[in-house]
Amino acid sequence: MENDTDKTNLRGIGHLISGDISNKLEFKLFSDSNVNVGDFVLVEDQYHGIPNHFVGRVTNIKLRTLGREDFLTEMSNQIEVSPMEVNPYEFRDSRSEILARIAEISLIGILNKGNIAPPKKIPNHLSPVQIPSVQQMDWISSKGDVEIGKLRAEMTGEGDIPILLDSEILVKKHLFVAAMTGSGKTVTVKTLIAGLYKTDKYGILIFDVHGEYFYPLKNNSKGLNELDNENVVIYGLGDKVDKGNQILINYRHITYGDLLYFYDWSSPQREALGIIFSDNEINNDYDHPLEYINETKPFDMKKEYGINIETGNVLKRRIKQIIDGNLDFITSDDKENLFTKIIDDLRFKRIVIIDFTRLSERSENILINILSRRVLNHNKQATQKSENPNNIFIVLEEAQRFLDPAESQNKGVMRELVREGRKFGVGLGAVTQIPRFFDERILSQFNTYIILKLTNSSDRNILEGGSPQNISDMFTEIATLYPGEAVIVGEAIPLALPVKIHNFDDLDLKKYRRESDDINVSKDMGAF
Ligand SMILES: Nc1ncnc2c1ncn2[C@@H]1O[C@H](COP(=O)(O)OP(=O)(O)O)[C@@H](O)[C@H]1O
Ligand SMILES: [Mg+2]
Repeated sequence: MENDTDKTNLRGIGHLISGDISNKLEFKLFSDSNVNVGDFVLVEDQYHGIPNHFVGRVTNIKLRTLGREDFLTEMSNQIEVSPMEVNPYEFRDSRSEILARIAEISLIGILNKGNIAPPKKIPNHLSPVQIPSVQQMDWISSKGDVEIGKLRAEMTGEGDIPILLDSEILVKKHLFVAAMTGSGKTVTVKTLIAGLYKTDKYGILIFDVHGEYFYPLKNNSKGLNELDNENVVIYGLGDKVDKGNQILINYRHITYGDLLYFYDWSSPQREALGIIFSDNEINNDYDHPLEYINETKPFDMKKEYGINIETGNVLKRRIKQIIDGNLDFITSDDKENLFTKIIDDLRFKRIVIIDFTRLSERSENILINILSRRVLNHNKQATQKSENPNNIFIVLEEAQRFLDPAESQNKGVMRELVREGRKFGVGLGAVTQIPRFFDERILSQFNTYIILKLTNSSDRNILEGGSPQNISDMFTEIATLYPGEAVIVGEAIPLALPVKIHNFDDLDLKKYRRESDDINVSKDMGAF
């Protein structure tokens, strides 16, 4: 960048007073300047023939009373009016104490022709610290196809630096979104989904446990339904949802694999179910193996399949509950196979929202597990037949419930999806307000983290453990973020970055519609 040395746009805010290349640098703020935790600063090394521009980030700010040994700070205080004209090595002062605000920065690199190189040297004492211009920060603008927000940093000059993420990395290598309630997780995911939708590359399945995605939550806010009437589909219970999209599943569409998520089965019980299901495929006396179990006496099950009477009793009791409709989403009415319908929607790269507001928590757990299992299996089978299935992105709110090995409803499908999904083009976007319920092993499988405000230190520590880049420098900042402000870390961007996420409500949704749809629309409208 030819402008590396252009000073007209810069704003001086302080002087460097101490530091350690492997750790932190400290500068003293001018009394009339200020800086925010998370801001980028430019440190201009002024004692070399060739100027060096170091880029750093403010990680902490503190008040200090400095004594005699802090002579340099004291001196810095005296010369802040006109730093360049004073020779610091000739400076003398008689006062003994100084009140100062000291900011800590971590060194990111050295600017060189618009690129950033790792810092292998350190700026000199009293190097001026400045707020960079937009142009000087341009090296950050990333390559990607989904614009999630803009660089959140104080800069001089006009314009913003858009932050783009690579959707392939984001989807296939899993995304982790963590923040306290009310910090902007759902808005972030909605903005991201608008961007993913536009790429026309993914089927998106959202497990909407709070009913926040489809309809606008409050006045002058938007739901994903406004993105596209046809390709954003909601499934749920109640009058708000079309008849054909009610989450009602005919028990005859339940498979052996599904059934494993309905109860905690002992191994003899699982084995018995397995025998009955596989045999029923051969001799078709009953429409469905569940009917056989419901209508057959345990004594006869023992005679036919050698199933223990006690096991037979348990199977009967549990299956009866399912068939009798003790679960709100099971019906005996004739219905289209809902699972097939949803998988078809995903094949057409639609956005599928499963709204759980009218369903019990038990049903929610079962459905999330079964649907994920079916999507994963569908893509697995297609991959094995080398059919190149669509990439699918699954959004899971309250993800800790399904990824925490200590939770009883976690039956492994989500952990398997995180470990193996990328091979079959299934990615997970896990959203949580309690990252400390995750283990490092599972966290390290997520390649992109979007972290919004988190004040609990164990939450931040566990993220540091799994994170692909170092974020411990950003702990103070993460604790002080405003809603919609994030730190993004991962393979999709060059370094951990502070980002202001675009508010979904402010997006011009027309720009996110797919181009193919525009063509259809203009055809329908005929000649002008
Ligand atoms: N990117 C953003 N820009 C501006 N405001 C935001 C943004 N994200 C969130 N907010 C504000 O914060 C509120 C809570 O956001 P939400 O996404 O529902 O939080 P969470 O899902 O973490 O509980 C929103 O209603 C909005 O007012
Ligand atoms: Mg939310």
